[in-house]
Amino acid sequence: MYKIPFHKYRLSIEEEKAVLRVLRSGWLTFGNEVLAFEKEFSNFIGDDVNAVAVSSCTSALYLTLGAMNFPKNSEVILPAFTYVSDVLSIIHLGLVPVLADISLDDYCVNPLDIERKITYNTKAIVIVHYAGNPCEIKDIKAICNRYNLTLIEDCAHAIETKYYGKSVGVFGDASVYSFYPNKNITTAEGGMIVSKDVELIDKCKRLRNHGIDIDSVTQSEKFTLRNYDILEPGYKFIMSDLQAAIGRVQLRSIQSMLAKRVKVFNLYKELLCPERVKIIANYNENVQCSHHFLPIEVAENKRDKLVANLLENGVQPSLHFKPIHKFSFAQNFSWSIAQLPNTETAYKRQLSLPLYPMMELDDVKYVCDIVNASL
Ligand SMILES: Cc1ncc(COP(=O)(O)O)c(C=O)c1O
Repeated sequence: MYKIPFHKYRLSIEEEKAVLRVLRSGWLTFGNEVLAFEKEFSNFIGDDVNAVAVSSCTSALYLTLGAMNFPKNSEVILPAFTYVSDVLSIIHLGLVPVLADISLDDYCVNPLDIERKITYNTKAIVIVHYAGNPCEIKDIKAICNRYNLTLIEDCAHAIETKYYGKSVGVFGDASVYSFYPNKNITTAEGGMIVSKDVELIDKCKRLRNHGIDIDSVTQSEKFTLRNYDILEPGYKFIMSDLQAAIGRVQLRSIQSMLAKRVKVFNLYKELLCPERVKIIANYNENVQCSHHFLPIEVAENKRDKLVANLLENGVQPSLHFKPIHKFSFAQNFSWSIAQLPNTETAYKRQLSLPLYPMMELDDVKYVCDIVNASL
């Protein structure tokens, strides 16, 4: 047991009541709770988006990219510094992942490197709002328009992130979210797809349930002898009412939890020694970061010692991320380290510190004292 774990989810009696209500309702799986969660989530994101709830952010990526139906072997550009779901979904769909480098200011993908890596075969770009820092969306949108490319925003870390007054997730052709337990809101496991493209949304709704042309609520409420049809093969990626009921309660306190995250972040900023610790955050006044965790950068030769000291004192750090090209499976791809210099640097210097709403101010001080004394 850690004195300060990397993450603690916050569940109250309200989530327990919501689960109990569903358990006693006679309907456990995809149903009206999911439909209500989708509506409430899309209202939270704003800008008239529609939402499709699914079983995880990973399935959201498979579903979204699959529904977009790119020709086999089309290239999709994504940052090398991300979670493996982004690259694995591309590979499984018969597409070709092309890794782009990040910027060392915010660890988000570098638009200049995206542009360098575009070929005649490029069809889409997946961007990741790292730790809740918004990517340079204006520049990336301009590139997408110039080369007629589809944009998918991975908002797994960034539900509350705002960019010039709007939620991230409304800028791409589609966006994906995660409700894994360590995310800013959780449904235990779960994810969401968001888009303004109604045709894409309808397709994702069908494909999340094998491709069946009628959803199970309608099917149950209006029984007919008509056999359902499957227009194209889909997946089993649905969210259950049990999960959605938890998500609906979590969503109600998302703003108060964000306020606490901001408080914890500001204290870290005040207490960490700026000469020895670089906080990876976007300080532009026109953005609001969701502060999913606290990414820091320290001297390469000090990082291992710092990790050891944190662990010795009961603090659980994390690493975001092991870059895609560092995994064994990457040997089958022709990704070049030389083309990813910032990702290489980040991998050697980066460390993530705990940041969650229930962190007491004394907890932050405790972590900062260890960090400052170790460097
Ligand atoms: C950036 C990013 N994308 C996608 C995922 C996958 O989320 P899920 O576990 O909901 O599939 C994660 C998980 O941590 C992530 O960090």
